[in-house]
Amino acid sequence: MNIQKKFDLTGRVAVVTGGAGLLGVEFCKTLAEAGAAVAVVDLNPASANGTADTLTKNGYKALAIPTDITQPDSVNAMVERVLSEFSRLDILVNSAALDPKFDPDAAAKGIAPGAFEDYPLDDWNAALNVNLTGMFLVTQACVQPMLAQGKKGSIVNICSTYGLNGPDQRIYIKDGQRVAYKPVYYTVTKAGVLGFTKYLAAYYAGTEIRVNALTPGGVFNNHEDYFVKNYSAKTILGRMANRDEMNGALLFLASDASSYMTGNNVVVDGGWTAW
Ligand SMILES: NC(=O)c1ccc[n+]([C@@H]2O[C@H](COP(=O)([O-])OP(=O)(O)OC[C@H]3O[C@@H](n4cnc5c(N)ncnc54)[C@H](O)[C@@H]3O)[C@@H](O)[C@H]2O)c1
Repeated sequence: MNIQKKFDLTGRVAVVTGGAGLLGVEFCKTLAEAGAAVAVVDLNPASANGTADTLTKNGYKALAIPTDITQPDSVNAMVERVLSEFSRLDILVNSAALDPKFDPDAAAKGIAPGAFEDYPLDDWNAALNVNLTGMFLVTQACVQPMLAQGKKGSIVNICSTYGLNGPDQRIYIKDGQRVAYKPVYYTVTKAGVLGFTKYLAAYYAGTEIRVNALTPGGVFNNHEDYFVKNYSAKTILGRMANRDEMNGALLFLASDASSYMTGNNVVVDGGWTAW
């Protein structure tokens, strides 16, 4: 098959959870540009609508479906809406997650920086609920139409370098003062994403339902200078990622370009995990 055809998603339907997030918006845009109709699935209705509206105004097929991925009824209603609107479901990108954004004024406001020893049980439970249980519920619901459509589909689970390695907590120190700790739930849930990916890929052996992970490194989002400097020093490429630098890998995994790949992981981290 022609190589461009392998990346072509014309006629396919994609669901992107967390579709209104920093990377979620990029994923929706990428899949739409490649020809897919995209369901922008997010807890935040205003941002989901904004993302879908921008895509539709630019001539792409998109639909916002505000959803709480931790609630089975909300997830099932989302899949019903996708099917009533687009009649099929070929691609699922599980991108929604709780990913702590650090408040630079946390210390001044008396916000605990997230140390392990007194990490709140409620925060741990909330993160496991979104990052793992939410992924489980959405995948369980989305795989039904894939099975009905000839046991074919591509599922892409978004992991993190912190699912591969423990966080180097030294990069969250500014002028000798600790700003934050990357919390324990992040590494635990992201490592779980890889386990989920391998389990499901193996479970669907003998079908054309492929399940892979995409592992981004840190994406620049107006971080403070101290953090950009600390982070960049740990990458071979010497910088954080731009928000559009995961898109090539996402399209590869979502499309037939990766037709011989399942149960594995594409790491796009500027070399963070290579040295
Ligand atoms: N941004 C980075 O630097 C980075 C690096 C490595 C991995 N990742 C991973 O990439 C993925 C996307 O990251 P991002 O930067 O776009 O995150 P983000 O925080 O900008 O977006 C996450 C989105 O998920 C949505 N969400 C949260 N809870 C939800 C729920 N219960 N139901 C439905 N939607 C919910 C939020 O509303 C938000 O729009 C995440 O899995 C994250 O862990 C991000």
